[in-house]
Amino acid sequence: MKKHKLTLSFLEFNSIDELNDDDRTLLLKAKEAAKNAYAPYSKFKVGAAARLANGMIIIGSNQENAVFPVGLCAERVALFSAQANYPDQPIVALAVTAIGSDSKISQPVPPCGSCRQAMIEAESRHNQPLRVIMQGEEGPIIISERMENLMPLTFAKDFLKRYTEFA
Ligand code: THU
Repeated sequence: MKKHKLTLSFLEFNSIDELNDDDRTLLLKAKEAAKNAYAPYSKFKVGAAARLANGMIIIGSNQENAVFPVGLCAERVALFSAQANYPDQPIVALAVTAIGSDSKISQPVPPCGSCRQAMIEAESRHNQPLRVIMQGEEGPIIISERMENLMPLTFAKDFLKRYTEFA
């Protein structure tokens, strides 16, 4: 038997002022996007902003539905919109944030597992690392420089390619 240990790395910042211009702009766009979330059921308004390699920013917010599973997370709204409109543009960064209903969110908002899997696809599709910037309404900001940190032991298209006729 062998025991393996993985190392995950993150950058942590105390304030948005410490971020570089690109990351700060993207996070501010995500904060704007969160205000337009449609979240009448959870009252948890999530905003996401994706930066394309050409510098364009595409935003998304969570879109809920009376049939709960139909709703979609902010991250996937942004990613899918970016990929639908600009299929040849790699997505180089994604900022995620949220607005709570009871108290202010003071810790970084972690993307759900399904969104992480969608981010993996965006990364492997263009073979380009995806930077993920996370913050609540206030408090620390954490940045993951590639998806390996958010979802190790990934199931991605290279795996399918190796064993099937797909991808
Ligand atoms: N949500 C997101 O938009 N992104 C995430 O990564 C976590 C959860 C949304 C889904 C739902 O509309 C609400 O937040 C509560 O789960």
